[in-house]
Amino acid sequence: MTKDNNISKAGGANALWGGRFDGAPSSIMEAINASIDVDRRMATQDLAGSSAHAAMLAACAIISDEDEKAIQRGLAEIGAQIARGDFTFSTALEDIHMNIEARLGDLVGEAAGRLHTARSRNDQVATDLRLWLRDALDSIDTLLADFQRALITLAEAEFDTIMPGFTHLQSAQPVSFGHHMLAYVEMMARDRGRFTDTRKRLNENPLGAAALAGTAYPIDRDMTANALGFERPMANSLDAVSARDFALEFLSAASICAVHLSRLAEELVIWTSAGFAFVSLSDQFSTGSSIMPQKRNPDAAELVRAKAGRICGDLNTLLMVMKGLPLAYSKDMQEDKEPVFDAYDALCLSLTAMTGMMSDLGINRAALAAAAGAAYSTATDMADWLVREASVPFRDAHHLTGQIVKLAETQNKTLSALSLTDMQTIAPMLTEDVFDVLTPQASAASRTSFGGTSPQNVKSQIELWKEKLS
Ligand code: ARG
Repeated sequence: MTKDNNISKAGGANALWGGRFDGAPSSIMEAINASIDVDRRMATQDLAGSSAHAAMLAACAIISDEDEKAIQRGLAEIGAQIARGDFTFSTALEDIHMNIEARLGDLVGEAAGRLHTARSRNDQVATDLRLWLRDALDSIDTLLADFQRALITLAEAEFDTIMPGFTHLQSAQPVSFGHHMLAYVEMMARDRGRFTDTRKRLNENPLGAAALAGTAYPIDRDMTANALGFERPMANSLDAVSARDFALEFLSAASICAVHLSRLAEELVIWTSAGFAFVSLSDQFSTGSSIMPQKRNPDAAELVRAKAGRICGDLNTLLMVMKGLPLAYSKDMQEDKEPVFDAYDALCLSLTAMTGMMSDLGINRAALAAAAGAAYSTATDMADWLVREASVPFRDAHHLTGQIVKLAETQNKTLSALSLTDMQTIAPMLTEDVFDVLTPQASAASRTSFGGTSPQNVKSQIELWKEKLS
């Protein structure tokens, strides 16, 4: 078998599937059909799948031991060629599966033609993508754990730094900066859980389903499942080649995670703006303007915010590709890999950039403290004081405090700067003690309910997280 024979036979028809063809495909057909520019990323997985398949074929006496040896030698050589950058990927050979099989023919001759016994590209591609995603999920988990550690380090340094907590982006109640960071640690933990679930469900072996119906050869699907680290062979051959819910699950989890990251990214954009000046990004994670010399822009945060849109788009792409496809394989499904790879790349970059930004974030404690005490952020504490110390029903306490806030506003003062006499014109039961609860520190410290923002709570949560992540 010569190299040329592998690619084309007389008339230019494809030698791997062109038996019933006389002519070659048009260049447009080739262009729309080829996936090699995308699926070459699965070369390692394709080689592993082929190696496991060949070993199984030999063990089941479907091919000879000599042929198996030749195939294994050829696959190893191809792996080395790809690693060296010595492998020319051909569009005429459509995808990674046929590129590798054709090269195997060049290297080991006739034995290569026996590798495709009892399998199809349909089970092969499903196997490759599951293997690829399994590794991808492991890498993402590592990046998520790194990001959690960076957030925890920051939370630990700022556990008693008080900042305004917001609702509607309006100052609401004082919270610990560490508490805010730990909120994202919780989100990332759930993201890790979603990726772990995805990995569990995807770890089944489609190989051996062949084109769609299984095969008449006496294959051993448990053997290939074991060799490839899958939990078990997939139980239904039609499902095995048709299912892409594992990729959709990955994209869903990636979308949710990216949306989480985009929220922190948006907070960085807000917090680094001159109106807030809560935090500053290091030189490593800021960019300048080509016209305005004073500028420090949070480009990385903005791009993380934008990547979330892209990743959600990838999910939508695959959902729409899969929608309405009858069983089993349809060529539409070749479009599955691009969104998966794109989302993976974008998510990894986003996570790494967020870890970088949070690891050397500058904290403007003075600005945080000033903002924490502004905008009547401890009004709730005054109302709670009335409930606790003077047995005022909460609704009434809320109303009285609202009137006191209005009074402070007309005098252009903070709550703690109002005189007790002035306050008493509205709520005569108030005493000097109320001033103790009006500082942002006291307010945050009083929130000791489980999950609340008191710095003591934050400290114990940090200890728990450090244990979990060690
Ligand atoms: N390149 C194809 C894909 O990624 C491989 C499977 C092709 N199967 C087929 N029956 N044409 O989906």
